Amino acid sequence: MQHLVDTNDFTDQQIQDLLRDAKAFKKQTPPKLLHDKLLITLFFEASTRTRSSFEVAAKRLGASVVHLDPSRSSAKKGESLEDTFTNLCAMEPDGIIVRHHLNQTPQDLANMHTTPIINAGAGNYAHPTQALLDLFTMVEYFGTQVRGKTIAIIGDIVNSRVASSGIRLLTRMGMHVVLVAPPQFMPETSLPQYKTLEEVIDSVDVIMSLRAQLERHEKEIFEDYDDYAQQYCITPERIGERNILLLHPGPVMRNIDISDAMLDDPRCRVLTQVKNGVFMRMAILKLLLLDS
Ligand code: NCD
Repeated sequence: MQHLVDTNDFTDQQIQDLLRDAKAFKKQTPPKLLHDKLLITLFFEASTRTRSSFEVAAKRLGASVVHLDPSRSSAKKGESLEDTFTNLCAMEPDGIIVRHHLNQTPQDLANMHTTPIINAGAGNYAHPTQALLDLFTMVEYFGTQVRGKTIAIIGDIVNSRVASSGIRLLTRMGMHVVLVAPPQFMPETSLPQYKTLEEVIDSVDVIMSLRAQLERHEKEIFEDYDDYAQQYCITPERIGERNILLLHPGPVMRNIDISDAMLDDPRCRVLTQVKNGVFMRMAILKLLLLDS
């Protein structure tokens, strides 16, 4: 039984297979490979893109999906996560897609060895399907040349599971990762660090902007996000004519993370990421439910 807790669960060959399958699924509607499969989603945190992307991916491959909304489940009556999970497993799904505020939850559930676990975002530690869809989006643009390209991750890096999974996967794939953030948002790391984008902008091929994770801040970090935006918002003025690919996992805080004008710029690939997310998740479901 194979799980996806983080991208290091996959071999290099499996990552290449995922990129190949995602590309093929994007090119041509695939047959209903998963027509006899049933998935359950169990999201303890809010989600727009990830949950619907998994559902669309599963349905495009013919699988059925059942959503359990923990805010209306027996979790509200005091049932433990493990008991909720064990009860769902008794219904014999082919996999459970889980999002949780604790870093450890997907691994804890995987350790129970009852059904394949797919991590849809855990704490500030891992969001492997986002990292893989971001990789797919960059490979689609750069081809094998993605190796050796430089990506600047900018924003609330310390609180971002997208950043932590991305850093692990993209460095493994041979990309140079540099971090741009105010001190409050910078993790402890051996990666190159910059306080401003201007210091590094002439040597980057990709910018990944991140949302300030207000819900994870124990106390208010910036009194005024306009001040933050002055320095870190991605605008056409800041990027100039440079040929830089702009990514963001969403939700984008308009005019704080990325300006309205930049969101409309063809170099901004936020909606391509969303589109590619479906194809990459189709590839991931195929790998975990069919090929493993
Ligand atoms: C992110 C998440 O929830 O980790 N969004 C996503 O899944 N695409 C990032 C965020 O909430 O800022």
